[in-house]
Amino acid sequence: MSKPDYLLFDRNTKAIFWNLNRNAIQRMLDYDYVVGRDPSIVAIVAPTQSRKFDKFFYGTQEIMIPIYKSTPEAAEDFPEADVLLNFASFRTAYDVTMEALDIPTIRTIAITAEGIPERFARIMRIKAKELGKWIIGPATVGGIAPGAFRIANTGGTIENIVNSKLHRPGSVGLVTRSGGLFNELSNVIARNANGIAEGIAIGGDRYPGTDFLDHMLRFEKNPQVKMMVLLGEVGGELEYRVAEAIKDGRITKPVIAWCIGTISKYFGGEVQFGHAGAKAGAERETADAKNEALREAGAYVPKSFNDLPELINGVYEELHSKGEIADIPEPEVPPVPEDYAKAVKAGKVRRPTNFICTISDDRGEEATYCGVPISEVVEKNYSIADVIGLLWFKQKFPDWASKFLDMVIKVVADHGPAVSGAHNTKVTARAGKDLMSSIVTGILTIGPRFGGAIDGAAKYFKMAKEKGMDPVDFVDYMKKVEKIPIPGIGHRIKSTKNPDKRVELLKNFAKENFPSTELLDYALEVEKVTTSKKENLILNVDGTIGVLLVDMFRALGYSDEQIDELINAGAFNAFFVLGRTIGFIGHYLDEKRLDMPLYRHPTDDILYDVKRPEGA
Ligand code: ACO
Ligand code: LMR
Repeated sequence: MSKPDYLLFDRNTKAIFWNLNRNAIQRMLDYDYVVGRDPSIVAIVAPTQSRKFDKFFYGTQEIMIPIYKSTPEAAEDFPEADVLLNFASFRTAYDVTMEALDIPTIRTIAITAEGIPERFARIMRIKAKELGKWIIGPATVGGIAPGAFRIANTGGTIENIVNSKLHRPGSVGLVTRSGGLFNELSNVIARNANGIAEGIAIGGDRYPGTDFLDHMLRFEKNPQVKMMVLLGEVGGELEYRVAEAIKDGRITKPVIAWCIGTISKYFGGEVQFGHAGAKAGAERETADAKNEALREAGAYVPKSFNDLPELINGVYEELHSKGEIADIPEPEVPPVPEDYAKAVKAGKVRRPTNFICTISDDRGEEATYCGVPISEVVEKNYSIADVIGLLWFKQKFPDWASKFLDMVIKVVADHGPAVSGAHNTKVTARAGKDLMSSIVTGILTIGPRFGGAIDGAAKYFKMAKEKGMDPVDFVDYMKKVEKIPIPGIGHRIKSTKNPDKRVELLKNFAKENFPSTELLDYALEVEKVTTSKKENLILNVDGTIGVLLVDMFRALGYSDEQIDELINAGAFNAFFVLGRTIGFIGHYLDEKRLDMPLYRHPTDDILYDVKRPEGA
């Protein structure tokens, strides 16, 4: 949408932001929202970012802004963007500007970087002038067209923006060098006139891309601007260009002007103020000399900076009383939603949580396991079983229980390559799958027949004991009523003749260290019954662990209901899952180390019994 030449920004202005400066971009979007215009930033250029977009808020809505690797790419996709906000560092800003000047759709470039060499600043300025383009800066916050477009942080916080009436157009054109004084002056103008129509901070360097006069000549043509305020400063001769323009009639609108730095005459020698350009090399460059020249040319120049507000007010009131400045209706300002994180921090909002965690906490300096910092876990030499105690059961186990669980994990860690889980892991690894996929196939094999009979064993033996069932009756009950093999009984290769060493180890440890082995003793009575039928129907490793875990938790003070809850949650099988995962990882690594090829099962090991159905 075309706008008059004298306007750099209007409510439709779209900009490309060079650099992923999230805060500045968000502030611009907050401004857009407050003044009721569409988001002004359409694209971000950030060559080192791998992301394709970033999310920002527009009011309460989240919007996505695309991220490009280069300005030409962004400009090609957004030809309507005629402003580039060049937030590159002083090392990069020159190249970014020179490249952007060559892009036909880009007309205005604001450069924030300080410290760009003066030689480069002059080259940028000359090239922009030749092309009829506008550079604001370097070393500037930029500027603002109230109610239409705000460059980055100009005007400060949204509260400040509203207090200084920078959210809707007034009648004053403002030019300053510095951003800090720009905010100050906007506020003075809001209180002593009706706010600004457009304001530009040209930047503190000696060779700004555009100067006071460039913008004041635009203001002269802009019917919205009824009066202008120029805040110059000691150093340079830019203010004389304005004085000349007033004298020769290029500027006819009232100009209130003041050059700061009149104090410099009280210092001996040449004083350098904050800005690179703020030093008077010659008498002509002093603030006093320039104030005098502006006064002579016909500008309103106060006696001191302190008198500036009153002077602005006088000129404004005169124009207002003559009807040249109409009253401006104050628009409604929607509140900018507060960032959730900030509001939480300030204790202003609350919301119900979706998750609860009672076992660990990562919010402090270091994570804790059930309140115990990890460093303490290490310093106090907690075993793996102790860590399990904290994270699975929220308790510190006594030494005997901790040692037992440690033994459980050790004895179930592996049982050779032939067992179901290890076999699956190996076959999967040989199919070229990764560690996670391979061990998952092993873990998924753990179930009621293989490794996962611990909970079942605990459940049925506990039930039988609680009901006072005779072992023979129990075996009968499982066969006739439950109609399932007794979990924890039976083994493919272990038997009374070939006892399972692991079972021996666990039983012996429990006998020596457990306060009571009531359920184990009951299970061993059941074993006598089953092995009398068949020698491989021993109390197997799953069964032994299952009944001993019940004995252990009982001794730790758990109620029957609490133990049932653990069993129903699958907590006992978890010991096999954890321990055997060590073995699965070993088998996976073994396959990789051996670089074994794809496995195909031999056909002579399969009984093929395939019959064609009738009619097929
Ligand atoms: N309870 C009662 N009877 C059983 C049990 C049992 N747990 N296991 C086998 N039997 C009986 C069978 O009913 C069958 O009897 P039958 O000859 O009168 O028909 C006979 O023993 C043989 O049965 P199979 O299924 O051939 O026994 P196998 O030795 O192949 O099975 C297995 C071994 C799968 C472990 C089996 O005993 C079983 O299912 N046990 C229960 C589950 C279990 O504890 N698994 C964990 C094993 S340990 C581990 O994986 C780490
Ligand atoms: C195991 O620990 O995997 C075994 O008890 C199962 C088996 O068949 O050996």
